[in-house]
Amino acid sequence: MPSNPRFLMCPPTHFAVDYVINPWMEGNLHSADAARAQSQWAALHGVLSDLAGIDLIAAGEGLPDMPFTANAGLVLGDVFVPSRFHHAQRRGEEALFTDWFAQQGFTIRQLPAGMDFEGAGDALLDRDAPRLWLGHGHRSDAGVAQEVAAMFDLEAIPLRLSDPRFYHLDTCFCPLTGGWLLYYPPAFDAEAIGAIASRIPESRRIAVSEQDALAFACNAVNIGTSVVVNRASSALKTALENAGFEVIETPLDEFLKAGGSAKCLTLRLDEP
Ligand code: ARG
Repeated sequence: MPSNPRFLMCPPTHFAVDYVINPWMEGNLHSADAARAQSQWAALHGVLSDLAGIDLIAAGEGLPDMPFTANAGLVLGDVFVPSRFHHAQRRGEEALFTDWFAQQGFTIRQLPAGMDFEGAGDALLDRDAPRLWLGHGHRSDAGVAQEVAAMFDLEAIPLRLSDPRFYHLDTCFCPLTGGWLLYYPPAFDAEAIGAIASRIPESRRIAVSEQDALAFACNAVNIGTSVVVNRASSALKTALENAGFEVIETPLDEFLKAGGSAKCLTLRLDEP
């Protein structure tokens, strides 16, 4: 684990469910409680502040999904690869995040024009090996894996997502310290399951139930041996504890209405 974990968060100043771009938002239009969202976000911020440094970016007006900083782009070393959002509703975030990273001294590297990519929502670094797992099928294009592999000279493994409820890789897949993996297998196609199985031994894979997956248990922020989530069943908590992890639950149901949770609300800034 890097000695100084840092994350980027964005306060939910303008958070709302103002449009529908994923199945979670359906039926939740204009139903998010702003005060409750603010206090749930503050509680998450408090939990993470005890474990890591937190940088903040100001929320953009008219950009209700901007608190989901995981989707800003991909951070590797001092390079930032900005996202290109699939849906027009989020494209206004691109310039704000790119400017922030440029101001912090990151080198900005763009993907080829016309390629959809939703950042660390779909690009997750293995915590044990120099490999990047890349989700595609809903928001990011399959071709991103090849581009990123060439850009960073690392193994990039494309994983096709097959269930629209799990539209970003970080909603159903979470590499953990020590080479453990938390994931929801039914969210992947057969080829993806094969790619995972050939790289992560079964003894290191923790498959969650549908109930846990729907509570966003895979959308976890892992810092060392801590795993911060919205909610986990007692069976899942036991499995994680047996693997050496401590589970910290912090309710984020206001953000589930928009299809996001703990991990989506953060972006790791100190990736090797
Ligand atoms: N409403 C947002 C969207 O659909 C939620 C994003 C959640 N982010 C994530 N990394 N899974 O784009």
